[in-house]
Amino acid sequence: MKNKGYAFFIFGGSGDLARKKIYPVLRKLYKERELSNLKGIYALARDENGLPDLIKEWEEDFSKLFKFIPFDVTSNQSYADMGKEIESLKGVELIFYLALPPTLFETTIRHLGSLLRRFSNPRKIIIEKPFGFNFLSADRLNNTLHKYFIEDEIYRIDHFLGKGAVQSIFSFRFSNSIFEGIWNKNFVDHVQISALEDIGVEGRAGYYDRIGALRDMVQNHLLQILSFLAMEPPCCLEPERIRDEKIKLLLSIREIRKKDVKNIAVRGRYKGYLQEEGVDPNSKTETFTALKLYIDNLRWQGVPFYLRTGKKLNRKLTEIVIVFKEIPGGFAKLLDCFPQPNVIAFQIAPKNVITLKIQLRPPAQRFISCPVESRLDFDMEEYYHEKIPEAYEMLIKDILEGDHSLFIRADETLQAWKIVEPILEAWEEDDHIPEYEPGSWGPKEAMELIEKDSRRWLIV
Ligand code: BG6
Repeated sequence: MKNKGYAFFIFGGSGDLARKKIYPVLRKLYKERELSNLKGIYALARDENGLPDLIKEWEEDFSKLFKFIPFDVTSNQSYADMGKEIESLKGVELIFYLALPPTLFETTIRHLGSLLRRFSNPRKIIIEKPFGFNFLSADRLNNTLHKYFIEDEIYRIDHFLGKGAVQSIFSFRFSNSIFEGIWNKNFVDHVQISALEDIGVEGRAGYYDRIGALRDMVQNHLLQILSFLAMEPPCCLEPERIRDEKIKLLLSIREIRKKDVKNIAVRGRYKGYLQEEGVDPNSKTETFTALKLYIDNLRWQGVPFYLRTGKKLNRKLTEIVIVFKEIPGGFAKLLDCFPQPNVIAFQIAPKNVITLKIQLRPPAQRFISCPVESRLDFDMEEYYHEKIPEAYEMLIKDILEGDHSLFIRADETLQAWKIVEPILEAWEEDDHIPEYEPGSWGPKEAMELIEKDSRRWLIV
């Protein structure tokens, strides 16, 4: 089966994702001779939208594999045209990539699924986020997918899992007893996960204004990071066993009651958002959110996990910070110094750095003197003299290999909706959205959320 090769069919084939991420990755892998079995790339879209200019820059042998097919995802004729192409691909694995606006997922899957009944080719389907708009629509989407594809053929993408530093959490924890030994409520005071962006909606208002920060970033990216960070070690490295541990973790997150939402979640909107092109002037969409979660299991009972994300903030920074408890009767306190906690941080963007913050006596000082905060920065690219591949490159390679470890299983996406849905419902009933200055750290309510627990947001 493998040596018959594979072909990509990219729905949304002239869209941003295809042009900026998918084609460059395929071209790079092709140049590196990693796609020797590639039989074709079919770009399916209504119009070419700049594709001819892009192709001009490509090497001849790669562009020969590329074919644009004018395509309307709601038209039977388009699928009939695609069927003709598939007829010439006997035995070839067909990889369908839904790089489409989410409103078109259902209809595309139905049409495609019906067409594929005529063919026996091996197949895979890749589906971008957001996976549904809420629990019900995600459930419906899963049902539609399962009508035509088995779970093993489905790849639900969360591109954060393709990021180098996120993947390193796994080996950092499970290959090093010095860290795994302290990865629990006995040593960890709290955890912060931040995905801060300096950009605004950047011409994506049509999508973003329906979605907002909680759906766009928390339901998927931040909860996926949280799963990797807090899960139990899997029994073995089979993709299903890794995903079992992630769902177990998501199921252990304490249910949020609607009446408690005001105490554990805040939202915000940057000033000027309502004037952005394409934004509904009466929009209630949040561009910032911060929340506090608890995981009710033996490892994490009582440890708060603070999550925050937003647009038009002070800088681009994606970072996980694990803050450790103070040592009882620690030196710093005895000496009337200002003790700082130990911290382990994973910077995911802009760089891939693991940082350890420790307290040390300045080496030239008297033996008994106030320890000062000292840091060890482990920049992965510098250390390994290697550029970490772009997230999509990692994920596309996994799809070709048929490895599901870094893709979201049906039950995970549903559970993630269950976690955030009470917040969405509570916000629906409340019109007040605090505003924040572009370039700031978000609304003051986000500071209050953590400060009322006598903690503060950290930038490592
Ligand atoms: C996407 C969101 O999934 O992730 C965007 O839809 C966001 O709104 C982006 O900007 C952030 O990803 P990255 O890789 O740039 O940190």
